Amino acid sequence: MNKFFTKHFIEGLPKAELHLHIEGTLEAALMFKIADRNNIKLNYLNINELKKAYNFNNLQDFLNIYYAGANILITEQDFYDLTWAYLKKVQSQNIIHTEIFFDPQTHTDRGITFDIVINGIYRALEDGVQKLGVTSKLIMSFLRHLPESSAFKTLEEALPYKKWISGVGLDSSEVGNPPSKFEQVFARARKEGFLTVAHAGEEGPAEYIWEAIDLLKVNRIDHGNNCLEDDVLVERLAELKIPLTLCPLSNLKLKVVKDLKNYPLVKMMEKGLLVTINSDDPAYFGGYLNENYLRIAEALNLSKTQIAQLARNSFKASWLSEKEKEKMFSRVELYLKNN
Ligand code: HPA
Ligand code: ZN
Repeated sequence: MNKFFTKHFIEGLPKAELHLHIEGTLEAALMFKIADRNNIKLNYLNINELKKAYNFNNLQDFLNIYYAGANILITEQDFYDLTWAYLKKVQSQNIIHTEIFFDPQTHTDRGITFDIVINGIYRALEDGVQKLGVTSKLIMSFLRHLPESSAFKTLEEALPYKKWISGVGLDSSEVGNPPSKFEQVFARARKEGFLTVAHAGEEGPAEYIWEAIDLLKVNRIDHGNNCLEDDVLVERLAELKIPLTLCPLSNLKLKVVKDLKNYPLVKMMEKGLLVTINSDDPAYFGGYLNENYLRIAEALNLSKTQIAQLARNSFKASWLSEKEKEKMFSRVELYLKNN
């Protein structure tokens, strides 16, 4: 396929997104707009100056900027506007289902209450279903650089909103904060009926992926790139059909990979891994979901069949019911018949 047809094919393809931090969708323009109405002065003169800071050598470089950006979110309307802007983008990219992370501790630790955060996000997600036809699930992510006690407190705060939250996750600074640190709080979350995922093997070793599976009992791994260090682990992931939510542009920006030409996507597919493509923090990494599909398709010269498989995988790896998945698969097949 030439570049024009690949782009066209990807843009129209129905797909799901499974690894997306809502705070990571805060575009520079919206950051200035919300900061202005909240009378907050940013450390940057304008959008261009701010974007110049989006040069990262590793995950921590990015996290410092990402947490600073989130400081301008104060009111329920701010969280609504943030989520709504993402959902409009989702609709324009033919993403028909999305499972998004939010980081409550980023906000509660600076005095914004849990209910302000979740009410704003959830109201937008409901409007997304009603007005845009986009279905969604919400995943509450614990910050792994904070102690497990803080995650427990957050879980308590979330219990009144249990019916709005499908699962819990684990993100932030990976190295030195292994999944084992959160074994108890994940056990409690599972007991409360939450599904579980965890970021593992982005900068951390394969061992952290083992811990996420064995100790946190996750049913999906976020990133998971470093599983390739361990053949037994790869076999286990394939056998248990534990999906990996890969994020190519994120990996490139955070220097997890040097060049997308060496991205191990096809290698992982050949090993039988259920891999998906996602955007992670698109406002900071230079592209939403379609840009991730396109850049990886070009770098690896993916065929139409391989791209279609990635879209099927996105639904297969989702938390939709089997019946809902069947509906999504038939939308993909219908698209393939006509394109
Ligand atoms: N890794 C860890 N924590 C994060 C990320 C990520 O890619 N994005 C937002 N928080
Ligand atoms: Zn992430």
